[in-house]
This record gives sequence, structure tokens and C-alpha cells, in this order.
Amino acid sequence: MRFTRSIKIAPSILSADFANFGAEIRAIEGQGCDWVHVDVMDGHFVPNLTFGPQLCAAIRPHIKTVMDVHLMIAPVDPYIEAFAQAGADILTAHLESGPHIHRTLQAIRASGAKAGLALNPGTGLDGVGHLLDMVDLVCVMTVNPGFGGQQFIHSQIDKVRALRAMIGDRPIHIEIDGGITPETAPLMAAVGADVLVAGSAVFKGGSVDKPEVYGANIRAIRAAAEAATAFMA
Ligand code: DX5
Ligand code: ZN
Repeated sequence: MRFTRSIKIAPSILSADFANFGAEIRAIEGQGCDWVHVDVMDGHFVPNLTFGPQLCAAIRPHIKTVMDVHLMIAPVDPYIEAFAQAGADILTAHLESGPHIHRTLQAIRASGAKAGLALNPGTGLDGVGHLLDMVDLVCVMTVNPGFGGQQFIHSQIDKVRALRAMIGDRPIHIEIDGGITPETAPLMAAVGADVLVAGSAVFKGGSVDKPEVYGANIRAIRAAAEAATAFMA
């Protein structure tokens, strides 16, 4: 994975057909997505349950781009090795998932995966500075984690702007996750986000039999975000 700050669209398969992940992944990749975002939920850290390492391992052969695994689980540490073995390129853990996020990030890097740090909307940037030299990605949640299809939280724009300034020249991606549409993507791209996760806005109206709708949805988000960053190039 070569580092670049160009806009990357990462569809969340939380909005895909759960009976057909392989075909859904081929459809979104065929339509030009950059990464595939996999939302792991434990019914404890967040009030919803999704999938575990076995599902990740099963879908891995279908992913040709980047497997971006978002761990909304607590504790995290006992499961890092299993998700790394399942083939995750990036493993993102929440700062709020326990008292030892530093140890968790060390363990993720030691597993061979890239390390991501996720922040809930109510979490500030205090403490993040101490972690910046051990992460490859910071994910700013723009909804409270747990469900797709929620409303974008505008207060996170200032957080991303401040985070971008903190990161400086470090090769760290800023990912935003939740409520991303062609309307909200440019607000975040303009202040420094480069990885845009979108579930409902990518999958809406399409299917594996109508993949061109996914393509149009991806292009609409990308075009809106790129227009907002044109002045930054
Ligand atoms: C929320 C997840 C998101 C979610 C995004 O807990 O982390 O990745 O699937 O879905 P939309 O784009 O529908 O808000
Ligand atoms: Zn996510």
C-alpha cells in the first residue's frame, strides 16, 4: 500500500447484501472503489452485532484492493491476531475501547497489519498526539458507531481540521465514517480527510445485477470530494 493523500472511497459492506458478500465486493471493486470497509461489531462496545474473523477470512479472497477492518469491539487485544490472520490490511481500534489503546496499537503493528485509531464523535483530540507515531490512519467517526444510515454530525468538521494540522507531514490517513454522501463528503475533504467510508450512499438503489448504480454513487461522492480539494493540490 503506497501512501497518498488522494481521495479514496471505501464502501462499507454493512449496507451490502449479507447473503452475497463475494459478488457485492466484486461489484463495488468493478465500479471503482478504492478500499473495502468491514464493520465488526460486538453487541457490547456498540449496540449491534455483525461479523468476526471467520467472515473476514471468507471474503478476503474476493478483495483485490484494501481490506479495511473497523473493530467496534471491546476488548480488542484478544482478537487482533485472528483478524490479522484473516487478512486485514488495516485494523482500526477505538480509543474508547479500553484503558490501554497504546498497547493495542502496538499489538496491531506487531501483527503485521497497518494500525488505525478510531475516535467517537464525543471524543476529543487530547491524547491522540501521543499516539501519532504509532498509527497509519485515524478514523473520525461522523456518527455514533453501531448502525448505517445515520445523520452526519457536523461538529466533526473542526475535529478533522485540527487533526490534519496535528498530523503535519506524517504519512497518516484521515478516514471519516458515517453519514457520508455527495453533500457531506466535500465538507470533510476540504479540511483534510482522504478516506471516505460510505455505506448507504454507495449501495443505495443498486445491486449485484445493477452494479452501474454503485458506480454512479461512487463517482458522485468522489467528484464532490475532489472538487473540494482542487485548491489543495
Ligand atoms: C457505523 C459504521 C459505518 C457505517 C457507515 O458504525 O462504522 O462504517 O456502516 O454507514 P453509512 O455510510 O450508511 O452512514
Ligand atoms: Zn466503519
